[in-house]
Order: sequence, then C-alpha cells, then structure tokens
Amino acid sequence: MLYRELTNSVRVDTPAKLNLFLNVLGKRSDGYHELETLMVTVGLHDTLEFRDDPAGIISLRCFDSASRSEETSSRELPAGAENLVYRAADLLRRESGIARGAQINLHKRIPLASGLAGGSSDAAATLVGLNRLWKLGLTPGELHSFAARLGSDIPFFLCSTSAAVCRGRGEIIEPLALPLGLHFVVARPPSGLSTAEVFRHCRSSQTARSVSHLAECLARGRVERAAKLFHNSLQEPAERLNAEVTRLKRAFTRLPFVGHQMSGSGTSYFGLCRSRRQALQLAARLRAARLGDVFVAQCRP
Ligand code: C5P
Repeated sequence: MLYRELTNSVRVDTPAKLNLFLNVLGKRSDGYHELETLMVTVGLHDTLEFRDDPAGIISLRCFDSASRSEETSSRELPAGAENLVYRAADLLRRESGIARGAQINLHKRIPLASGLAGGSSDAAATLVGLNRLWKLGLTPGELHSFAARLGSDIPFFLCSTSAAVCRGRGEIIEPLALPLGLHFVVARPPSGLSTAEVFRHCRSSQTARSVSHLAECLARGRVERAAKLFHNSLQEPAERLNAEVTRLKRAFTRLPFVGHQMSGSGTSYFGLCRSRRQALQLAARLRAARLGDVFVAQCRP
C-alpha cells in the first residue's frame, strides 16, 4: 500500500492479493472457516482519494478505470452504505467519536468478485487513509482490530511485507519476507463467484498439509519447488459452481507456467512465471484464447 499526503487530501494505492496456498481446516462455531493461507500482494491496484467534507458527511464515488474513469455503481460495486469502504469510514468515525466527514473517490482496477480481495484492500486503504486525513493517531494494533471486524482478508493489507501467512479466519498475520520478486499472469473470466457460496460448498481438507514448507521455499527464493506446493481447497467447489474456472485451468495447464491455480474463492486464476518476459509472452497467448481479462502482475520483494 502506498499513500501520499497532498495539500487537502490523502491518496492511497492499494494492491490485489493472490493466495498461493489456502487450506480450509474446518468449520467454526461462529459460521466462519478456520484457514491456513499464504497471500502475496501484486502490482494491480485500486486508488482511493480522501478529502475532508466540511458538512461532516461521508460520501463515496466509484470510478471504473477500465471504462475511462466513468462514475459507476452496481450491485457488485455499490457506492452507498453497503460498500466496505463506506463501512470502514463509518466504523472509524463512530469508534473514534469524531464528527468529521469525508469525500472518497474510489478508482477501481481490481476486478470484482474474483478472489483478488479488491474490496478488502479498499477497506484497509480507507482505515489507513482516514487515520491520516482525520489525524486520529490510531496505532497499527487498533487499525488491525477494526480491520478484523470488517472482514477476514482486510488485516493482511495493513501488513508492511508483500507476503504473509494468515490463520484463524484470516486475521492472524505472520509477515513473510521474500528475497526476490515473483512474476504472475492473472486471468479473470467474465463471471465472478460469491465468497460465501464457495465456502458453503467446500469440504474440509482430508489430507494433512502445512503452509510451512511453501513459506520456507519462498523465503529461500526456491521458486520452482515453491510452485509444486501451491494449494487451494476452494478451487474444487469453485469449479463445480462455475465452468469458467475449469476452462481457465485447462488453458493454464497447456502453457509452461512454473505453477498455477485459482486465487481465493475465485474466479480469478493465476500462473507463476520464470521472468517478466515469460509473463508477457504467456499473457499474450492467454489473451488470444479470449477466456477473460488477462493481467501481468508482479509481487515485489
Ligand atoms: O470475512 P468476509 O466478510 O470477507 O467473508 C465473506 C464470507 O466468506 C463470510 O460471510 C463467510 O461465509 C465466508 N468465510 C468463511 N470463512 C472465512 C472467511 C470467509 O466461511 N475464514
């Protein structure tokens, strides 16, 4: 996450994530699932601008960067109180007992409902951006606890490293330092999936697996070995719910990726490449297959 303080505003670029490992360990008594996941941030990002509102109102405008920055609002990307950005701003204001407002512009690049956690990343950026704009002086621990109340993936985006192992609901974070950059191709098919629905169709893992071997390989820069340890328990239910995921899997299998799988609850699918050059070549071949939007995205060390 990258933020800049301008004269009357704060601007935050906030990234998408990919799950290189996601193991569902079981269902919890609170209805959530116990997870062990390894996430990395990638260069594809949304941008949020925060400006003080003199009338003390929180307002949100969404712009779709793909359609030449036209203002947009839809069921998947509501501009009102259902948007996680609005909810993050409202929570921060209520909990800190201040009467300030904010005009928020959200420029979307991260595809919606795609397992890339764009909404969670935007919510994390809102906590960071408004903590600055409103000069609340909240500590990282306080921001983390607000993030965990808003959603399972949100605390990860407050982490200062580009990779982390996340446990519990996803909110218990263990940062992981990567020695080198990772080059990915990400494809998002035309339709998305609901996270709650994919979790509902997921069976807990029967085989004992641990994220630690993958974390160790990545920390030592052993990329080829790491790719053999990729895993996502949500891919099988997502493939049952959406045939576009299976189509992407087949297309990625035919190409020489080091490793590939679906991210989060889908429907985005990614492949790890040996270099940026290879990523650009494989992205061009996937674009020619016309299975969806294709991005080249880097995880920086
Ligand atoms: O926490 P968040 O609101 O992002 O989660 C969205 C949905 O995904 C939850 O309502 C729940 O159905 C499912 N989920 C889960 N276990 C998790 C995270 C999410 O069952 N650890």
